[in-house]
Amino acid sequence: MKSPRTIRIFDTTLRDGEQSPGASMNLTEKMEVAQALAALGVDIIEAGFPIASPGDFLSVREISNAVTGAIICGLARCNDADIERAWEALKHAQQPRIHVFLATSSIHREFKLRMNQDEVVARAVAGVRQARNLCGDVEFSPEDAARTEIDFLCRVVEAVIDAGATTVNIPDTVGYATPMQMHAVIASLKERVRGIDRAVISVHCHDDLGLAVANSLAAVEAGAGQIECTMNGLGERAGNCSLEEVVMAMRTRSDHYHCETRIVTQKLVPTSRIVANITGIQVPRNKAIVGRNAFAHEAGIHQDGMLKERRTYEIMRPEDVGLERTDLVLGKHSGRAALADRALALGYNLTAERLQTLFERFKILADRKKEIYDGDIAALCEDQFADLPERFSFVAYRVNCASGQAPLVTLRVLQGGEEKSVEVNAGDGPIDGIFLALEKLTGVTTVCRDFRVQAVTVGKDAQAEVTVELETIDGDQCRQIHRGRGVSTDSLEASAKAFLAAINRVALGPQPRIHPQRV
Ligand code: KIV
Ligand code: ZN
Repeated sequence: MKSPRTIRIFDTTLRDGEQSPGASMNLTEKMEVAQALAALGVDIIEAGFPIASPGDFLSVREISNAVTGAIICGLARCNDADIERAWEALKHAQQPRIHVFLATSSIHREFKLRMNQDEVVARAVAGVRQARNLCGDVEFSPEDAARTEIDFLCRVVEAVIDAGATTVNIPDTVGYATPMQMHAVIASLKERVRGIDRAVISVHCHDDLGLAVANSLAAVEAGAGQIECTMNGLGERAGNCSLEEVVMAMRTRSDHYHCETRIVTQKLVPTSRIVANITGIQVPRNKAIVGRNAFAHEAGIHQDGMLKERRTYEIMRPEDVGLERTDLVLGKHSGRAALADRALALGYNLTAERLQTLFERFKILADRKKEIYDGDIAALCEDQFADLPERFSFVAYRVNCASGQAPLVTLRVLQGGEEKSVEVNAGDGPIDGIFLALEKLTGVTTVCRDFRVQAVTVGKDAQAEVTVELETIDGDQCRQIHRGRGVSTDSLEASAKAFLAAINRVALGPQPRIHPQRV
């Protein structure tokens, strides 16, 4: 029997994923995600678009310096400045890769680039040559490849391989392709492009029609050797191909795909949680592989079948994706070692200093609630990772309220070590009152676009996790979305913390950035 092909997993959570509105991450958060991705076993981490902003440059540079075990990649448009900047950020990585891209479809050539076919080929070749002079590993992407005339696509791909591209990536930039079309495109490239064997063929699918995973798998069946994807399917608009889905599809149906990856699948759920908590974009309950209900069997007939033989209704084992069946873990008398153990099993490898803080917070929580579940521990760990520079930090609140009356709210926060307080008698209810008080106290005015409360675990004493999305308008009249998250056994306190976390992001000021796909 032929041995399975190994498909490279190229993760772009930190670049395309970060292009999801409101998903922007700071340096510490990006580093946390990059380390988690390396531990997950991804082959390539696209760490960012270095020319986009000083912050993006810094994060690609720091990830290049610190993260080992994966190729670190930086995105660049096909021009000198972008490529030089990308190399400057990447040059200390153990395994650096420059990813250059240029649009090739007729619609992009005519309306965006205003270039003809010859000019596009010349620019693509020049970009790849310049990148190859700096770095031995160069990927080229013909943006909007799925809507590019196949003859022209073959011509571009052949030219960039001749110029030294070691990977050619075929993006379905607008999520327009269908699985059979994607299969045909890859098959044509393999058949018609001279020298195609000198490069790895990759795919990069967007999910506008919900086909990103299916299209990526079709490309693999046609011979692609690399899949570009993101944790939780984050990404521009409807997102990218979801890493956890495409990896588990190849693993579960290895009888069909005859492929394998280097992904440590037991780390999928913990990594998904880290990304969800850092970006504030929660995973829907019914999301395949990592959603809360992905392995929950509700119907009696299913439960009965499961008890007799798991495989009657389960095509994957929850433990294979990192979902532990034993959930009830610690209590008031549990020690530091047990806590460190559980945190590690959940995917959090803590330094001694972080473990100490975690242990102190764990003890406070254990005083408030009898049973501490995995979800509680994950929430405590995430709170530590989100160490944004805090302009304001929550101290305490008091609310007097009754039906039909405006609440009376007193709030206290710390600003630069100094305590400030405010009293407000307004709002539709206690949460609205708290938000109004925080706006008054911090001097930041926003529009609340989203507010969600969910229980972290089961039980009446479960911690509440609140996420908020606040909107501000910047100097260029552009909408900026700022997310915040707060966790507490008291849902009003969790709301105040979430709102304050988002306000802290607003207070950092607008972060001007170039969008990679803007010319
Ligand atoms: O979707 C796309 O075309 C991209 C490229 C930059 C690869 O993200
Ligand atoms: Zn993309």
